[in-house]
Amino acid sequence: MSNQLHLQQFQSQLADSISSNVFLKASLGNYQGNEKELKNIYVRKVKIKRADMLSFNYRYKTRDIFKNFPIAEGITLISHFVSNDFKVCTLFTTEKEVILEHGKKQQISLREKLVSTAVQPTLAHNKEKKRLIKPVGKAYLQELKITDHEGNVFKNAQDKYRQINQYIEILSTLIKDLPAGKINKVVDMGSGKGYLTFALYDYLHNVLKLSTQVTGVEFREDLVNLCNGIAASSEFKQLDFVQGTIEAYAVDEIDLLIALHACDTATDDAIFKGIKANAELIVVAPCCHKQIRREMEKSKVKNGVSFLTKYGIFMERQAEMVTDGLRALVLEYFGYKTKVFEFISDAHTPKNVLVVGIKSKGTKVADGVSESRKAEILEKIKETKAYFGIGYHHLERLFALEN
Ligand SMILES: C[S@@+](CC[C@H](N)C(=O)[O-])C[C@H]1O[C@@H](n2cnc3c(N)ncnc32)[C@H](O)[C@@H]1O
Repeated sequence: MSNQLHLQQFQSQLADSISSNVFLKASLGNYQGNEKELKNIYVRKVKIKRADMLSFNYRYKTRDIFKNFPIAEGITLISHFVSNDFKVCTLFTTEKEVILEHGKKQQISLREKLVSTAVQPTLAHNKEKKRLIKPVGKAYLQELKITDHEGNVFKNAQDKYRQINQYIEILSTLIKDLPAGKINKVVDMGSGKGYLTFALYDYLHNVLKLSTQVTGVEFREDLVNLCNGIAASSEFKQLDFVQGTIEAYAVDEIDLLIALHACDTATDDAIFKGIKANAELIVVAPCCHKQIRREMEKSKVKNGVSFLTKYGIFMERQAEMVTDGLRALVLEYFGYKTKVFEFISDAHTPKNVLVVGIKSKGTKVADGVSESRKAEILEKIKETKAYFGIGYHHLERLFALEN
């Protein structure tokens, strides 16, 4: 039988198995195409918003990507893949396995293996993950256009919803280490549209059953009005949004300070407020590290990594690491234990680093850190600035730590 006939047979068996509901999955393997790190694709039939779809799980070396297609489009895509870059493809049905294999000398073979399986096709979409923020019955998720009124997450909001949950998951772990009952006041600096502020309030009040006051600080008045409106319609009575800058926000009590993607030095202003208020936990996801980058570009200092930083992208990453490294040192100076880690896959956003400061137990600001350790930290900051040609760092300057 010709190659073409084998391909056609495979495709028609695939289409028949799907329409007669005996299709279990298709596995496309031995990938020989150009897409870096792609290994396999697994395809299952799923039901999404009452419509049958084919869900493609693209398996890369270090990550998985899911894409859903209407049935006809999915079949066309599989047909394309099996004819080209995937050299071994297996169709699993409740009755048999059909194996299409590209052999040597460009021959394509087709084999069938009967199976007696008790497995029945299931249309459940990806196993429902345990999410801390459930999508159903949440007015704020509806108003922020994450879900519809039935609690279905919109297709174009899936990433945002996943991000919110991942972020709450991380916070939930960090919060567990705080002294019991010690989350009276949370401030979200540069709260924007409030996605994370609402989710955190929801988690603190409805999951942990705390009665925490949560405030978002934001200089865009339109966003502040929008968020206060949503807080009111959600009946989140201890949540408010205030219009103004982080720098000007007067506060002396904060237990948990968060700032997600507050631009450039706004992250420093937020950390400054958190330390000043003796916050137990400071969690920031910095973005656009312009201040330090400008300093580095201005001085054009020659050092051991100049061969790297002549490339714009490496300069950007270097500025990012140095800025956040210096922030971590300042936090340590004031008695915080620090962690720096990725909080979401860089497939979703490159701004994915969290800098966390956790107050060492029983420590008051600037107490608990020995004078010698403080001197060591200041020396490290000085050395780092000299090495990278940095005149000053905004956070260091706010605390007048320059020497
Ligand atoms: C990139 S958005 C992030 C919003 C939100 N934190 C999030 O992660 O979805 C940054 C927000 O911070 C606000 N912002 C930046 N600098 C600020 C400052 N110095 N004071 C108050 N708000 C600021 C901006 O208006 C913007 O809404």
